[in-house]
Amino acid sequence: AHGPSTRLTIGNAVIGPDGFVRPATVVNGMFPGPLIAAQKGDLFNIEVVNQLSDESMFLQTSVHWHGISQNRSNYADGTAFVTQCPITQNHSFLHTFTAENQTGTFWYHSHFSSQYASITRTLHCDGLRGALIIYDPDDPLAHMYDVDDETTVISLADWYHVVSPKLLGVPSIADSMLINGLGRHVGGPPSDLAVINVTPGKRYRLRLIQMSCQSDVKFSIDGHSLTVIEADGQPTEPLVVDQLQILAGQRYSVVLVADQSVRNYWIRGLPNTPGANYIGGVNSAILRYQGAPAVNPITVALPPTKPLQETNLHALGSPGVPGTPGYGNADVNLDLEVSVKAPDFQFYINGITFGNTTLGNHTVPVLLQILSGARQATELLPAGSVYVLEPNKVVEVTIGMQSAIGGPHPIHLHGHAFDVVQSAGSSAYNYVNPVRRDVVSAGHPGQRTVIRFVTDNSGPWFLHCHIDWHLAAGFGVVFAESPADTPAYVDPVPAEWDRLCPIYDNQPNF
Ligand code: C2O
Repeated sequence: AHGPSTRLTIGNAVIGPDGFVRPATVVNGMFPGPLIAAQKGDLFNIEVVNQLSDESMFLQTSVHWHGISQNRSNYADGTAFVTQCPITQNHSFLHTFTAENQTGTFWYHSHFSSQYASITRTLHCDGLRGALIIYDPDDPLAHMYDVDDETTVISLADWYHVVSPKLLGVPSIADSMLINGLGRHVGGPPSDLAVINVTPGKRYRLRLIQMSCQSDVKFSIDGHSLTVIEADGQPTEPLVVDQLQILAGQRYSVVLVADQSVRNYWIRGLPNTPGANYIGGVNSAILRYQGAPAVNPITVALPPTKPLQETNLHALGSPGVPGTPGYGNADVNLDLEVSVKAPDFQFYINGITFGNTTLGNHTVPVLLQILSGARQATELLPAGSVYVLEPNKVVEVTIGMQSAIGGPHPIHLHGHAFDVVQSAGSSAYNYVNPVRRDVVSAGHPGQRTVIRFVTDNSGPWFLHCHIDWHLAAGFGVVFAESPADTPAYVDPVPAEWDRLCPIYDNQPNF
């Protein structure tokens, strides 16, 4: 584990996590990247160094700390073209921030818009992903969970072999789902699988992190139920389930009690990719009780009887949703209607697409526009995709999936966790104790999702689909929250900004 003061060197390597060897983007030579472990209140100093060298892939990067609110530090959010320029080859960016009161399960990943999918370079979902955990040494909930160990991370990452020159909008098929960076693919060798070791009788907090670029998973562990206690860095009332559908970007902590007979059990997380056929492929990991032989499990999956339903998940000790209860009763009621247009499968929100997020179609990062004096939505680019929000308002956002095929779409908001007052596919509203999280399913065409949050965090925050090629195909907007008091990078503005941005012709001078 790396502490909050660390250096992440982004480079290229040839790796074969599921037995198929391909070039990839890696962090400190590793995939997934190193675990970043911190304690509540820590100051993070993370230097991201770009040592990418493979000319056939992207040579620029940026790294986002998914779920960290970046209160008064939006400039450290790591979002290329929103809060910063991409980091160019042989340059670095120092991310300095505190996570304030946040604790729980987070992650980091490339947010150079298409370090996943591109129409100009041949790359796809790749290796710049890793876990970020913030522990609370004085966790007031510790007695409730009463776990013997809370350090187990189970990361799920879909993985692709085919390097497609054009993935936009077209669902590509994951070749495997890697658990902690290991997996197998259909027709592949019996390569190593991740093993989670447990001691009989002990209780474990397992931190599930869905690092996929596209696929959701139905996660389960044969022979065990799991008690959900955290969703996306927010404590929940304990909820016993036997299967969790987890969308890209989402995290859960679950308590597992090692109270079954001593043997090996399959940990399952097949990618749910349209058109995929995993017959004969094994994409699993192993739960191994101490004393069991080091062999593959022979357990079978039973049909779930208690699959997770988001509407059953409640924020622990929720003070209620902010603002006046009732649909449409917030200070700001924003309707975002999402559609897809053939033939290129570009996504539109209220008729505007965020654009092909390939280099060259981008404008100056929104933060730099704001720091240069832009205040109104009409002057902020990309035109029509930036919504200005005033401070200290209760904002209710309805996300309507008009014709947005390719779901369920995981919708992620930077800068905030939000209350899910209506889950996709449910007709009920909950203004009392809904789950609070930072990635929510917006479901399928015809469904809608309603979320609320308070504008108490100034900065330009991306709201986007966490399926990477949907983002690359324009599925995003930016909330420019309180532009008048958006904090600038440390004073004086460091030279990095100037060093990092000259790829633009008209770089604002600030
Ligand atoms: Cu997980 Cu915009 O990010």
